[in-house]
Amino acid sequence: MNVVVTGAGRGIGRETAKGFALQTGNTVFAISRDQHALNRLAGEMPGNAGTIVPLAMDLTLGDFTSLKAAIALHGGLVDILVNNAGGLVNKPFEKLTDKDFDYMFGANVKSAFMLIRALMPFFGEGSHIVNIGSMGGFQGSAKFPGLSLYSASKGALAVLTECLAEEFKERKISVNCLAIGAVQTEMLSQAFPGYRAPVMPEEMGLFIREFALTGTRFFNGKIIPVALSNP
Ligand SMILES: NC(=O)c1ccc[n+]([C@@H]2O[C@H](COP(=O)([O-])OP(=O)(O)OC[C@H]3O[C@@H](n4cnc5c(N)ncnc54)[C@H](OP(=O)(O)O)[C@@H]3O)[C@@H](O)[C@H]2O)c1
Repeated sequence: MNVVVTGAGRGIGRETAKGFALQTGNTVFAISRDQHALNRLAGEMPGNAGTIVPLAMDLTLGDFTSLKAAIALHGGLVDILVNNAGGLVNKPFEKLTDKDFDYMFGANVKSAFMLIRALMPFFGEGSHIVNIGSMGGFQGSAKFPGLSLYSASKGALAVLTECLAEEFKERKISVNCLAIGAVQTEMLSQAFPGYRAPVMPEEMGLFIREFALTGTRFFNGKIIPVALSNP
């Protein structure tokens, strides 16, 4: 099975990528901007595990040449894409800048849009695209001050999910969005210093992997809240 995981250098994405790669026969294309972090991840894999292909790139630049070449070398199919990379700025609304807007919509929405578009030739029947959203972007959830643009960007990713599921259904490509709650990662610690999340990245990585593998049986075009609590 070929799996693409973005934001695999740390946090939830790293654990998700690791989980897939531990299975013999799997090839995981692991993406972040940090080549060293990706190499460390690849180096941690036991001898009988699958393969991690570390690919350092800035997703917001939209240049997926190296990724497409690597996928072509490994059979030319993508079974699962986990759009996990993201960015968060926690600021009162009046303090948010145009740069903050471009940063969050770039990392959380435009990157996913560009990557899905680039990988369309590689998705076959049964492929699953899993977008990692947030409870902040889930309609009707409690909202938190300081997260207006972050939540709006995750809301956009959620609606993109619904639209793509409809557009791709004849091709039997499923698209879902997991609107996750607080997980103890660098992103959370920076945004909410001192807050302790009830879920660790390993647990969420495991859940995402299981969902990516089995979720298409019951879900398509769905935004699924995955949260015990949330900021
Ligand atoms: N942790 C939570 O409580 C929580 C809650 C709800 C939703 N989420 C979502 O879950 C996802 C993972 O979050 P996390 O907490 O694990 O975050 P994290 O620890 O900050 O990790 C984010 C990952 O995304 C990568 N990334 C960011 N921008 C990128 C870019 N332009 N190009 C390539 N890679 C990029 C980062 O790598 P580099 O910086 O090295 O490139 C890093 O590997 C995010 O989408 C986040 O919004 C998290």
